[in-house]
Amino acid sequence: MNRDEQISLTEEFVRQNLKGYDSGHDWWHIVRVRKLASFINDMELLADPFTVDIAALLHDTADSKFADGDNEQSYLRIRDFLDSKGMSDIRDKVIHVIKNVSFSSKHKKDNPDDPLLWVVQDADRLDAIGAIGVARAFNYGGFRNNPIYFPGEESENTGISTIGHFYDKLLKLKEMMNTTTGHKIAEERHEILEKFLEQFYGEWYFGS
Ligand code: ADP
Ligand code: NI
Repeated sequence: MNRDEQISLTEEFVRQNLKGYDSGHDWWHIVRVRKLASFINDMELLADPFTVDIAALLHDTADSKFADGDNEQSYLRIRDFLDSKGMSDIRDKVIHVIKNVSFSSKHKKDNPDDPLLWVVQDADRLDAIGAIGVARAFNYGGFRNNPIYFPGEESENTGISTIGHFYDKLLKLKEMMNTTTGHKIAEERHEILEKFLEQFYGEWYFGS
C-alpha cells in the first residue's frame, strides 16, 4: 500500500470516528490542524512529513470527552487500524501524540523530546485561537447550552460562560506554543482574541 492510499484510508477512518460529535471536533477542524501542522513542520523540519499528516488526522479520534470514557478501547482500535494498513512503523509515535496532544494533558516542559507532538499540539492549539477559535468557542458553548457571558467572569476559573473560557484557556495558549513558527502565528491570533474581547465589553457595557 502506498502512502497516498494510507492517507485516504486514514481520512476515511477519521470521518467515521468523528460522526456525531460536536462541531468543534468536526472534520474541518482536522483539515485545518493538518494544514497548520504541515506548515509548521515545513518551516522547522522537526518530524517526518507523512507521520505529521497521519498524527494530525488522528489526533482527536480518542478524545475522552467523546469516546464514552473508554479511551483504552479507542487506542486499541487506532492501533489495529494502523497495523492493518501497513503503518506499524509509525504506530507508537502516533498513539503517543493522540494521548498527549490535549490542552489539559501537557505543557512543553513535560514533553521535551517529542518534535512530532510539538508540531501537532501547536497546530491544534492554533485552531483554538484567532477568528476560528472565537467561532469554535461560541459554537461549543452553544452546544453545551452555556451562557455567552456572566459579568464578573473576566478571570480564570470563574464560571461556565464562553467568555470565561477565554480566560481559562484561550488567552493562555500563546505562551504555551512549542515551536517558533507556532508562536509567531499564535501572536497574530491572540491579538484577535484581545480585540474581540475589547469590542465585546464595549458593546456589553454600552452606555455605562
Ligand atoms: P482539543 O482541541 O484540545 O481537544 P477541547 O476539546 O478542549 O480541545 O476543545 C475543543 C474546542 O472547544 C476548542 O476550540 C475549545 O476552545 C472549545 N471549548 C472547550 N471547552 C470550552 C468551553 N467550556 N467553552 C467554550 N469553548 C470551549
Ligand atoms: Ni483537536
